[in-house]
This record gives sequence, C-alpha cells and structure tokens, in this order.
Amino acid sequence: MNLIIIGPPGSGKGTQGKLIAERYRIPQISTGDILREAVRNGSALGVKAKASMIRGELVPDEVVVGIIEDRLTQRDCGKGFLLDGFPRTVAQADALESMLGKRGMVIDHVINIEIEVEELIGRLRGRRTCRRCGAMYHFTFNPPKKEGICDQCGGSLYQRDDDKEETIRSRLRVYARQTGPVIQYYASEGLVRSINGFGCIDDIFHRIVEVIENGEAYAKRGSY
Ligand code: AP5
Ligand code: MG
Ligand code: ZN
Repeated sequence: MNLIIIGPPGSGKGTQGKLIAERYRIPQISTGDILREAVRNGSALGVKAKASMIRGELVPDEVVVGIIEDRLTQRDCGKGFLLDGFPRTVAQADALESMLGKRGMVIDHVINIEIEVEELIGRLRGRRTCRRCGAMYHFTFNPPKKEGICDQCGGSLYQRDDDKEETIRSRLRVYARQTGPVIQYYASEGLVRSINGFGCIDDIFHRIVEVIENGEAYAKRGSY
C-alpha cells in the first residue's frame, strides 16, 4: 500500500505516520527527518537545506525529489511506503507521479489531516523529540514519564530549531500557499481522505485506519 500523509505543521503527520507504518509494516519516509539528520551530520545535503529550514521555507524541489528518488528504490519500499511531508509542491507531486509511473506504481490514499491554526501553534511550541530514536512528545499533551528523557530508549529530548513562534508562522504561510494546491491535485484524482485532526492520538489513528480499510463505504456515504 502506497500512502501519503499531508497536513499543516504540527497536524500530527509524524505521530500518526509512526502508528500507520507499524500497523501496515511499511516504512515511514519523512523528508523533514531525512533533512534534519543531514543538517546534524553536516553533509552536503544538510548544507543545502539548512538555511531554508531555519527560515521555515521549503528546500528546493530538486533536492527533495532527489532524496525520494533514492529512497523509493530501497528494498524495504517493495511492499509499500508512507510519505510524510512529501510532496509539498505541485512540482514535487508531478515528479512523484513520473517516478512511480516508471515503476508501474500508484498512490492508494492521500490522508489529509485537517485542523485549526490555533491548535497547531500550541502543539509545536510544546513538542519535544528524542535525539536517538525520533519518538515525539509534548510537554503537556503527551509528556514523557521522566522530564527530558525518552520513554522508549532513554535518549535525551530536544526542541526543533524551527519550532519558534516566528518560524512556525512562516511554515504555516508556506503550507497554505505551496502545499494547499497539492491537496487539490490529489482531490482531482479522487485520492484525498480528509481526517478530523482534533482529539486524542488514538482516536485520530482509528479514524485513519477506518478510512484506509473501509474507504469505499465511507465514500459512498459521502462522509469524508
Ligand atoms: P517537516 O519535518 O515535514 O515539518 P512540518 O511539515 O512543519 O510538520 P511537523 O513535523 O512540524 O509536524 P507533524 O505534522 O509531523 O506533527 P507531529 O506529529 O510532530 O518539515 C520541516 C522542514 O523541512 C520544512 O519547513 C522544510 O524546510 C523542509 N522540508 C521537509 N519536507 C520538504 C519537502 N517535501 N519539500 C521542501 N522542503 C521540505 O506533532 C506535533 C506535536 O503535537 C508533537 O509534540 C506531538 O506529540 C503533538 N501531538 C500530535 N498529535 C496530537 C494530538 N492528537 N493531540 C495533542 N498533541 C498531539
Ligand atoms: Mg513531522
Ligand atoms: Zn528515544
């Protein structure tokens, strides 16, 4: 199964993506995670991406398209994949379509998480991420058992450089302007499954599973 999860910054793509990847045993491919790791390692890719990321702007299309092109050829994508944070522009969606077309593959569902801006800012301000395993926490909504320490691996938790209020606002503007049209792009192909992104993490996950597994029935009732 080939999935895309799309939604504004803080909508829960990473959180839900991990649960989806586990349930369907497919890799979660997050361009944001790949880029952050490159920045940490100081690789050539990291050097190219760093300035845009700090400003909350998009990294150039050719850079992220190259990442995805490499990643999709790896063996673990054979049974499917979940793209988190890609495509983010119509040009990236076009590039993905031609990449998949060459391999005779298609996207099955585009999971679109819908949520209000006010909720997003609170989520992003309080987010903490594990340096070692990437697990995500929130200091009020989903706190670790021990402050600053990952429940799963004992690694230390950090705050992302782009989770400052000003950068969050720029990311939200960029999302509306550049990624909004990507939803239209997939809507015209009938692939968008919109999910209410409010509520607790488990409830949202159940909504997603329901739509993936009973999507047809939902579509007939017109309740997306
Ligand atoms: P990226 O890493 O993709 O960031 P983003 O899209 O801004 O989204 P986030 O990762 O911030 O949020 P999320 O939706 O994953 O939410 P999360 O689950 O963490 O991209 C970062 C940057 O990289 C971009 O700005 C750009 O520069 C570059 N980039 C990446 N991809 C690119 C591309 N394709 N093209 C060009 N540039 C690219 O949840 C957020 C918080 O909320 C967490 O603390 C979590 O614990 C909490 N939370 C989650 N669910 C709930 C809930 N139901 N209730 C309460 N709290 C919750
Ligand atoms: Mg994320
Ligand atoms: Zn960890």
